[in-house]
Amino acid sequence: MPRRRQRVEQVTFSGMAHKGQAIGRTEEGMVVFAQGAVPGDKAMVRLLRKRKGTWQGHVEELLFPSPHRTEPACQHFGVCGGCKWQNYAYLQQLKEKEQSVHDSMQRIAGLDSIPLLPILGADPVYQYRNKLEYSFSAKRWRTREEIETSGTFSEEGALGLHPPGNFQKVVELETCWLQQELTNDIRNFVGDFARKNAYSFFDPLQHTGFLRNMILRNTLAGEWMVVLSFAYEDEARRIALLDALADRFEDIVSLHYVINEKKNDTLFDQEIICYQGAPTIVESLDNLHFQIRPKSFFQTNTRQAKVLYDQVRFLTDIQQEDVVYDLYCGLGSITLYLARDCHQIVGIEEVEDAIKDAHINAANNGVANARFFCGDVRNLLGDEDFLKLPKPDIVITDPPRAGMHEEVVEQLIGLAPRQIVYVSCNPATQARDIKLMSGHYRVEQLQPVDMFPHTAHIENIASLRRI
Ligand SMILES: C[S@@+](CC[C@H](N)C(=O)[O-])C[C@H]1O[C@@H](n2cnc3c(N)ncnc32)[C@H](O)[C@@H]1O
Repeated sequence: MPRRRQRVEQVTFSGMAHKGQAIGRTEEGMVVFAQGAVPGDKAMVRLLRKRKGTWQGHVEELLFPSPHRTEPACQHFGVCGGCKWQNYAYLQQLKEKEQSVHDSMQRIAGLDSIPLLPILGADPVYQYRNKLEYSFSAKRWRTREEIETSGTFSEEGALGLHPPGNFQKVVELETCWLQQELTNDIRNFVGDFARKNAYSFFDPLQHTGFLRNMILRNTLAGEWMVVLSFAYEDEARRIALLDALADRFEDIVSLHYVINEKKNDTLFDQEIICYQGAPTIVESLDNLHFQIRPKSFFQTNTRQAKVLYDQVRFLTDIQQEDVVYDLYCGLGSITLYLARDCHQIVGIEEVEDAIKDAHINAANNGVANARFFCGDVRNLLGDEDFLKLPKPDIVITDPPRAGMHEEVVEQLIGLAPRQIVYVSCNPATQARDIKLMSGHYRVEQLQPVDMFPHTAHIENIASLRRI
């Protein structure tokens, strides 16, 4: 069937939409979203798909570049989905994020006055991640130019990151700017080893192939953890690769593997086996030491984690006699940060390994007034035995992107702490939850922190005071 010809229209871009795509209008006024454009650009855009009256477009030719454009550091920019805003000046990125928090609080939370503090930017803006998950795929992503200039090519697979919105194919990376330089040496070493020794890469559609994923974590002091995920056991090949990796990189102090035979890549329900070295790496923040296991959540930008936690501490009106709850506490980082300032602190987290770490972290840091409970926040806050604990004067809550369950919001209102400090990586769900609490709590301060330069992700702290 002949393909319908797609229209190409002139579009003027004026802002960023919530998923990090630029938003603009054609001369006729049609709304167009496009990846890679920045506000202020005028471009010829191919209109690809229409949905709910708006178009998804692809920039064909830049007619007038925005003054807010900047040179991306990465050779894979525009193809790889890792960081989509590298061509957008960092100060503008910050303004965009600040505005986005403002808009969520106005539109979703329905706030009349918005006590928004200036966003705290990150430094450095490259190589800031302490964790990256690379994928192996039998299907390498090819750019339009590659397809147009090559005839046929062999299917050699790829090790890298996914292109935007495509979870089957992978962009083969040479240099990634998200994590410290060793990330590239380790990834490229594993890729070369695998190809030289004819290891097969996972095919997410056929569920075939040996190598699936590789997680790299590092600390500021230069300790590295590697978790290699295999689709099935092939002992000789697994050991050959793990040994080669351990021999080559002395900075890998914690080497793990997992045999994941499931259809999806998630590892929370899989046994991760420590192959060599220590089972954890240790990060230090503000004279506190945190040991981190492969499954435990730790804020992904370590330097900004300190900025975030310092702000949480600053915004929390804590007294020495207070009882504090830290909901969704991970391995207890905020818990231990605040334990020094209060009488007792209670952390809740559903990942067992994180709670194990939290107990050890408390002991290692000489913190005796922190208690940890493993379970779903919703279940624990509704549990008779748990409710025998002293009621909280202050609650810190730091849920995942989906925000808090409605029942948790009600439980919090019932507990009636005098202050709730709500840390969120998704201001839209945070604003939704704030609205649910609006009859009981007023927002006294909002402090956005940029944890993820060159992406649309925003972290925001909201301090809520009981009315
Ligand atoms: C955004 S992280 C915050 C962690 C911690 N506050 C920190 O700064 O490191 C959210 C945490 O909530 C945990 N979690 C997610 N859903 C949960 C639930 N329903 N009940 C308890 N913990 C949950 C996750 O495992 C993760 O550790």
